[in-house]
Amino acid sequence: MALMFLTETVRAYRERDPAARSDLEVLLCYPGLHAVALHSLSSFLWRHRMPLVGRVVSHIARFLTGIEIHPGAKLGRRLVIDHGMGVVIGETAEIGDDVYIYHQVTLGGTSSKAGKRHPTVGDNVIIGAGAKVLGAISIGEGARIGANAVVVAEVPAGTTVVGIPARPVDRSGKARFDAYGTPADPCLDPLLQEVDLLRRELTELEGRIAKLAQERIF
Ligand SMILES: CC(C)(COP(=O)(O)OP(=O)(O)OC[C@H]1O[C@@H](n2cnc3c(N)ncnc32)[C@H](O)[C@@H]1OP(=O)(O)O)[C@@H](O)C(=O)NCCC(=O)NCCS
Repeated sequence: MALMFLTETVRAYRERDPAARSDLEVLLCYPGLHAVALHSLSSFLWRHRMPLVGRVVSHIARFLTGIEIHPGAKLGRRLVIDHGMGVVIGETAEIGDDVYIYHQVTLGGTSSKAGKRHPTVGDNVIIGAGAKVLGAISIGEGARIGANAVVVAEVPAGTTVVGIPARPVDRSGKARFDAYGTPADPCLDPLLQEVDLLRRELTELEGRIAKLAQERIF
């Protein structure tokens, strides 16, 4: 069991991180792997009526890796946590198989009430660096969450979301999503308004010059 976990997880790191050059390098130098391995232990203790010992193991894992995974969280297979520092995965979070999480990601709660309050992440989801996924929401299979996004609502399967609050990237080209907080309507952009004004003045001046030239000729 442990051997299968190590083999397939190390392979997942090798396949997905071009910086990983050997199995030994992944085994020794990838804190995400260490954190998930230690989570297997803390989760076992948690489920077998030793919650305090489970919490202590997860605390030691956090100390060693910078990754905080509550023992109650349910993790799928081949989870890759790249870089890892600052990752927080809450007690009632559930993560599917083949999920890829970068550093500084939070799968957090928005309520102090007990019960399901953390996200459920589907298979094959990618969560970019610094993203915060908050509440008992579902992230559909194959979704991608942009770096630094704050996700507070369900994300349908296969959708890419970015920004704060996170919204789907619009690939239609008609109504483009405003990814960087600049106005989507160019008429509201003061710089574009200024350019538009200058363009109109230029057109008017060109008209007047053409008229003067005509008067001189005739
Ligand atoms: C969200 C992401 C998956 C989208 O990738 P993609 O499908 O190739 O999308 P594109 O690069 O074509 O971008 C689509 C639009 O979203 C914008 N966008 C992309 N990522 C964004 C982000 N994190 N925040 C805000 N806007 C973003 C782009 O500027 C573009 O906007 P436009 O249509 O107005 O030009 C990717 O940008 C991302 O953030 N990946 C995380 C990577 C990461 O964390 N790496 C850490 C390595 S250490």
